[in-house]
Amino acid sequence: MTDSNQIKLGIIGLGNITQLNHLPLLSKNKEVTISAVADINRNTLKNITSKFGIEKSFLDYREMIKMVDLDAVIIATPTISHKVIALDCIEAGLNIFVEKPVAKSREEAKVISSAAIKHKVLAMVGMNMRYRPDVMMLKSIINSGDLGDPYLVKAHWHRTQSSAGKWFSNKEEAGGGVILDLGIAILDLSLWMLNFPEIISVSTANHFIDNKVLEDSSVSFIRAVPNSVISMETSWVHSSNEDSFIFEIYCSKGKASLNPFKITKIIDGQTVELTPFKQENSRKLYEKSFVNELNHFIGAIKGLNPVLSSAVEAVSRMGVIESMYKSASAKSEIGYK
Ligand SMILES: NC(=O)c1ccc[n+]([C@@H]2O[C@H](COP(=O)([O-])OP(=O)(O)OC[C@H]3O[C@@H](n4cnc5c(N)ncnc54)[C@H](O)[C@@H]3O)[C@@H](O)[C@H]2O)c1
Repeated sequence: MTDSNQIKLGIIGLGNITQLNHLPLLSKNKEVTISAVADINRNTLKNITSKFGIEKSFLDYREMIKMVDLDAVIIATPTISHKVIALDCIEAGLNIFVEKPVAKSREEAKVISSAAIKHKVLAMVGMNMRYRPDVMMLKSIINSGDLGDPYLVKAHWHRTQSSAGKWFSNKEEAGGGVILDLGIAILDLSLWMLNFPEIISVSTANHFIDNKVLEDSSVSFIRAVPNSVISMETSWVHSSNEDSFIFEIYCSKGKASLNPFKITKIIDGQTVELTPFKQENSRKLYEKSFVNELNHFIGAIKGLNPVLSSAVEAVSRMGVIESMYKSASAKSEIGYK
């Protein structure tokens, strides 16, 4: 039964991320009701609606947004379709949550963000890493200034491509390779930790080891004002048996890292470890990041909190991503405007 205070949600795209995270978590969330779902795959639609007891389902999302009374939609389809779906939903007056990357290009991101402003709806982009409990703690410690001024972020994510052979490997559908899959998430984490510094220049080298069309390994060096640096590496091909994720932030009075979460601070010339709480395993952190992220979106719809990771932010993040591709093609460092 629907409670009148519940947020009425529609979900578009019932693939991997929706089945793994959005649907299991949202179906347990008392603040929302999943009013309808849409997917172009008839079998997926049938299986998912019966598994989660969802009454209304559509092969065409446009029918769903026309026929069902909704407050918001979650868009979790391949990247190529994000712009059109997002615009249709925004123009129907719906708040949107779009999975990352917001779209294939900065230009498309701009169109989505401008439309959301024009139609006065919320547009949030999935950046679940920001909502990991250890990341939230780290962010508040960096913001407190206790570790001094951050000057270097080292971010590294090597992971076997989870959707090898699917649309992720197709340039037309994905828009890019490992940069748009893994790179965008650690770039966002780095920029967010540094409070979105002004970028000065970008230098990227891309490699095409197994995939001859899309980069499957990438290394970047990003300079920011006043004198901070983001050094990041991503790869789909060097993960051996285990994924490897490193995030370290170096500050004038200390250093912090994730996986495992560790903080060290220089006090009276001594390096002291200040790691504040017991470690949670990666699986738990991953799951909590989605719980927190979705709660944040629901809170924003209810007017309880502002949107973090808005489509407006996504425009500048896509700008940095495009500079990474330009630098890789030019084989040189390029200035960023
Ligand atoms: N935040 C994360 O950690 C994370 C992880 C994986 C994927 N993602 C993102 O989530 C999105 C979906 O990725 P996925 O791995 O679930 O892909 P997927 O291929 O597993 O699922 C996509 C689903 O969308 C459906 N679909 C395609 N076009 C559609 C349309 N026009 N209307 C309705 N349904 C349509 C497909 O039939 C499929 O069921 C992508 O943007 C991806 O980058 C985010």
